[in-house]
Amino acid sequence: MKMYNLLLLCLYNFEITLCQDIEMSHKVTKITEPVVLGEGPHWDERVQALYFVSIHEQTIHKYVPATKEHTRTKLNGRVGFIVPVEGRTDQFVVGVELKFLLVQWDGKNNSEAKLLKELCEVDQQTKNRLNDGKADPRGRLYAGTMGHEEPPGVFVQEAGSLFVLERASARARTLAARVGISNGLAWDERNRAMYYVDSMDKHIRKYDWDPDTGNISNMTYVFDFVKNGIAGVGDGGTIDTDGNLWWCVFDGSCVLQIDPNTGKVLRKIDIPAKQVTSCTFGGPNFDTLFVTTASMTIGEEQKPPCGSCFMVTGLGVKGYPNVNVKL
Ligand SMILES: *[C@@H]1O[C@H](CO)[C@@H](O)[C@H](O)[C@H]1NC(C)=O
Ligand SMILES: *[C@@H]1O[C@H](CO)[C@@H](O)[C@H](O)[C@H]1NC(C)=O
Ligand SMILES: *[C@@H]1O[C@H](CO)[C@@H](O)[C@H](O)[C@H]1NC(C)=O
Repeated sequence: MKMYNLLLLCLYNFEITLCQDIEMSHKVTKITEPVVLGEGPHWDERVQALYFVSIHEQTIHKYVPATKEHTRTKLNGRVGFIVPVEGRTDQFVVGVELKFLLVQWDGKNNSEAKLLKELCEVDQQTKNRLNDGKADPRGRLYAGTMGHEEPPGVFVQEAGSLFVLERASARARTLAARVGISNGLAWDERNRAMYYVDSMDKHIRKYDWDPDTGNISNMTYVFDFVKNGIAGVGDGGTIDTDGNLWWCVFDGSCVLQIDPNTGKVLRKIDIPAKQVTSCTFGGPNFDTLFVTTASMTIGEEQKPPCGSCFMVTGLGVKGYPNVNVKL
């Protein structure tokens, strides 16, 4: 009997050690030189590359892990998101100022992105701009706006909205109004749920999401940044295949793994940059978390490696493939 207990105790300890090892073994690696406001990472599995933007620099970026090559090109305005187009590896929908634009870019450094089509414009006659955007599991593009910022870090309140781009009419339909800073989006297709963050309301929202219409309803809060004692604000995020959220904390130097069913933090991944902006899973097995950051001077200077992209490996979870826009 005693032997048996001892054996159980050993097994128990062994398991704890194993779990700890798995949790402790993740590694954060800097993969690009700093940009000013990195955002909107999208892993394109067709070309095994990461696309992202640097909003104020008006640039779109491509990073190829296999060659470590980081290329970029400048657009004609602040760019909030870049999402590749289904069926075309050199076409992208980008959000520039208040317009959804279809552009063609060969991914080469400083090679001109050619404007193919202006799809639509939102919030006309305002000083708003488009921020984060992403395609849902059916390939519909969602993106939101935010109020004018002046001086840095001070925003016009509740002036933005969340939109979905209508495929047929190429019109943007409003899904949520009175948004402060429209930010991260993630879908749980199995549970017909959409997660969304307006950085100004200090929560992660969950909506019932209708895969056939793209409509959202029944908003609830699933995570409270303030109640959980998180310094900083929620920015971009993603979801893993277990249904847990990975959310970046701007001014918080971390990415949080969150169980949306309990509203609890499961893990906190420290990132060596204060302004952590967004993340997505990618890599050949969708088990690398790519994280964008910013190096904006808001009060204090953010020195390198702030503003770099990082990759986090060894997390022991996987994400879903990022979805391209179906036009
Ligand atoms: C791309 O061009 C930028 C300047 O716009 C330069 O700093 C960078 O080193 C170039 N990258 C590559 C891979 O050539
Ligand atoms: C919204 O919530 C109500 C009440 O729980 C439910 O009956 C309804 O199906 C929900 N709507 C959607 C689109 O899931
Ligand atoms: C979804 O939204 C569209 C546009 O607002 C509307 O026409 C349609 O009735 C909505 N569908 C449902 C099921 O609410």
